[in-house]
Amino acid sequence: GLNIAPLLKETGTVTYDPGFMNTANAKSAITYIDGAEGILRYRGYPIEQLAEHSSFLEVTYLLIYGELPTAEQLSDFDTLTRRLTLLHEELKGFFGGFPRDAHPMPVLSSAVSALSTFYQDSLDPYDTDQVERSTYRLLAKVPTIAAYAYKKSMGQPMLYPDNELNLVENFLRGCFGVPAEPYELDPAIVKALDTLLILHADHEQNCSTATVRLVGSSQANMFASISAGINALFGPAHGGANEAVLKMLREIQAEGMKPEDFMEKVKKKEAGIRLMGFGHRVYKNYDPRARIVKGLADDLLARLGGDDELFDIAQRLEQKALEDDYFVERKLYPNVDFYTGLIYKAMGFPEKMFTVLFALGRLPGWIAQWREMIEDPSTKIGRPRQLYVGAAERNYPGI
Ligand code: ACO
Repeated sequence: GLNIAPLLKETGTVTYDPGFMNTANAKSAITYIDGAEGILRYRGYPIEQLAEHSSFLEVTYLLIYGELPTAEQLSDFDTLTRRLTLLHEELKGFFGGFPRDAHPMPVLSSAVSALSTFYQDSLDPYDTDQVERSTYRLLAKVPTIAAYAYKKSMGQPMLYPDNELNLVENFLRGCFGVPAEPYELDPAIVKALDTLLILHADHEQNCSTATVRLVGSSQANMFASISAGINALFGPAHGGANEAVLKMLREIQAEGMKPEDFMEKVKKKEAGIRLMGFGHRVYKNYDPRARIVKGLADDLLARLGGDDELFDIAQRLEQKALEDDYFVERKLYPNVDFYTGLIYKAMGFPEKMFTVLFALGRLPGWIAQWREMIEDPSTKIGRPRQLYVGAAERNYPGI
């Protein structure tokens, strides 16, 4: 029933590539990945160097503007984004409309979508001032929205941002602080979260970023495009994996199962079980971010007294996988999400916030990619074709 004649007539050639395994949809100067070698660079800088020496704000600037900022540029950037952290008061009303037990990811994507209604002076994708304005607004307001979504999910009062604090500090206070009471920040948690956000900041044409570009290619504004990206990130095969990893570890623990027995189930593909936090479309080697996350987990869990038993199960699963033919042949290694959940849990975040933390990190990448797409004169509206496999022409027979 496959009929490719019309496509061939139009284009002379047809490429069938489900999942875009080998189709490039963009030329990009932002992020370089060599999946076979396990290399990741932002604008040419190795992720290991950025994670060790820079800050999330600096990396945000780098991704969006292409160069590392000078001290003065960074300070200006910091001031501009800090000034915009407050949400329109009526936007706050949205949070009251969601059910008490709503997952914070759809709350986040809905509120980001609603920014198009509150900030109508920054919607034109081809006006550079407006694009700058929506960039600052997103960078400043998404952490506030994310903290509100957290408070909403906990049934606790929301805190107005404190602009004496930087982005990461403000977000932590927004989640764990109590109105009118001082909040004491733990510098080790601030630093670890900052590093985790750097590690998530961009990853070329992953599912959510490709979504941001596809939506944006119709000239939809940045808020609308990024709201779509947040929804793409929600799925367990993408950003939702960090939440799914912890769920998997807890189930193994609760059932008193040996990691080896769980691995057997995975290998038999029982009920489609996968080892969550393992495997990657691009990395066929150790994900370089996972290596850094593992180091952070070692340090932070020892310091904060994380869940040793779950960490132990995770390490045993990893060890088993690295020795097992099933995983070796398929080149399945831990990805960035295998250990992040354990760190977030030790920091005090509930599981449903894990993917929100991923979204916070990925935000600069989405913005940088959306801007690159809009500025590229060769951008065309994203419009895949299909191979039609339905019925051939037939006559309507009447009821
Ligand atoms: N556990 C067990 N087997 C796996 C896993 C896994 N985590 N991942 C892939 N496989 C197997 C598949 O069953 C398949 O086996 P087969 O050849 O016998 O059919 C083979 O490896 C190839 O898998 P695909 O699904 O074709 O690989 P793809 O590149 O399409 O998928 C993905 C990549 C979605 C990340 C996959 O590895 C997966 O589902 N991992 C678990 C979820 C996860 O951790 N996602 C986070 C990704 S990273 C991120 O978004 C930040």
